[in-house]
Amino acid sequence: MKNKIKSVKGTYDLLPSEIYKWQEVENKLRSIFSLYNFLEIRTPIFEKSKLFSRSVGEFTDIVNKEMYSFLDKGKESLTLRPELTASVVRSYIEHNFQQISSIHKIWYYGPLFRQEKPQAGRYRQFYQFGSEIFGSAYPESDVELIDLAYTIYTKLGLKNWTLYINTLGKKENRNKYIEILKESLFPYKDKMCANCKNRFDKNILRLFDCKNSNCKKIMNEYAPLIIDHLSNDEKDYFEEVKSLLDQLNINYEIDPTMVRGLDYYTNMIFEIRSENLGSQDALCGGGRYNNLVEDLGGKFTPAVGFAAGMERLMIAMEKENLFKNESEELDIYIAIMNKNVRNKAMQIVKEIRNNGHSVDMDLQRRSVKAMMREANKKRAKYSIVIGENELQSGEVNIKTMESGKAKTVKIDKINDFLSV
Ligand code: HAM
Repeated sequence: MKNKIKSVKGTYDLLPSEIYKWQEVENKLRSIFSLYNFLEIRTPIFEKSKLFSRSVGEFTDIVNKEMYSFLDKGKESLTLRPELTASVVRSYIEHNFQQISSIHKIWYYGPLFRQEKPQAGRYRQFYQFGSEIFGSAYPESDVELIDLAYTIYTKLGLKNWTLYINTLGKKENRNKYIEILKESLFPYKDKMCANCKNRFDKNILRLFDCKNSNCKKIMNEYAPLIIDHLSNDEKDYFEEVKSLLDQLNINYEIDPTMVRGLDYYTNMIFEIRSENLGSQDALCGGGRYNNLVEDLGGKFTPAVGFAAGMERLMIAMEKENLFKNESEELDIYIAIMNKNVRNKAMQIVKEIRNNGHSVDMDLQRRSVKAMMREANKKRAKYSIVIGENELQSGEVNIKTMESGKAKTVKIDKINDFLSV
C-alpha cells in the first residue's frame, strides 16, 4: 500500500454526512441578510499582499505572523485572504460603488486563511459570513449592523451568548491615548511577558488581550481605559449607539478593555461571545472604520461592518443541540431488477427526476434485498422495484417505507402520485 496523504494541519473536511447542517444555517443566513436588504458580494480568494498590510495593519498578528503569502510567477507577493473587509473595500473602490449610490449594504460568505496555532474553534482555513455598510456616519448604521448580528444568533436559536461593545474613538484621539497608555505602563514593561514587551511599541492596545496572569494584573491596576479619554463628540456618538440599542431591546455589556486585533477601527467596536466555546469564544466581531476607504485610495466613506466565524457558530449550535439528527429525505428509491429492464427503468428514473422528485437507484448491480436495505439506509420515503412483470403490466407497487404499505400505480402516473 502506498503512503496516505493527510489534510493540512488546521484544515478539515466537511463531510457529506454533516453538510446538511451547514446548508441549513447558510439558507437561514441568506434569508436574514435579505430581510435587512443586504446584497451579496464575492471577491477572489487571493489578493495583493499589500492590501492587507495597508488595511489590517503591518503590526497586527494577522499581517505579521499569520498570512499565507507567496510570490507568483511575475514575482508579485500575493496572499490568501485572511479577512474580507479589505477585499470588499478594494472592490468598492475599484468598481466606483460611490457613484452608483451613496449607501451600500453588502454581505459575504466564504473561506479565509490564517496561519494561527490550531485549537478548538481556531483553524487555518475557516469560513466567515459578514456584512459591511458603506456611506453612513450615523449611529443608526452601527445599530442596524449590531441588530443584524443579534438577530442572526437569536433566529438560529442560540442562547448562551453576550454582546459586548466598546469604543476606540477616532484615530487622532486614540493616538493621544496610546501615548498616555505607554507612559502609564512603561515602569512595568520589564515585568511583562515577552509578547507584551514586543507589542509595547508597535501595538500596545493588544496588551489588553494578553492572557498571562502577571500582565493581566499590571493592566488591571495601571492601564488607563480609552473610554475615560474620549472627546465629547466621541462620547456623544457612543451614547447614541447605546440609546438606540436600548430602544430595540438589544442587551449588551460594555467591555472597556476590548480593542479588537485589526488596525482600521474608529469609534464603536463590538463582539458577540459564546459561553460554550472555551478560549476561542468570539462568535463575531466588528465595528466602525471611517478611514479605511480613504486609506486604500478611495474617497472618504464612513463604514461599519462585522464578520462571524461559521465553525464557532456550528460548534456552539451543536453544544446547544440545535440540529435535527438527520439529513434531508430522499423521495424515492428505485430497485432495477436485472439487465432486461435496465434501459427502460433508467428512463423512468430520469422522468421522475425531471419532474422535480429526488430519486436514487443501485449502481452496483446488487440483489433486490440489498437494494431495499440501501433504500432504508438512504431514508427514502418510497421505493419501487422494476422488473419484467412491472414493465409488461405498466404498473408498479409504490411502497411507503415507513409503514411498509404498498399501492399499485400506473408507471405514467408515478409523478402524479409523488406530487400529492
Ligand atoms: P475578526 O475578529 O478577525 O474580524 O474575525 C471575525 C470572526 O471570525 C471571529 O470572531 C471568529 O468567529 C472568526 N475567526 C477568526 N479567526 C478564526 C480562525 N482562525 N478560525 C476560526 N474562526 C476564526 C474580522 O475578520 C473583521 N474583518 C471583521 C469586520 C468586518 N470588521 C469590520 N467589518
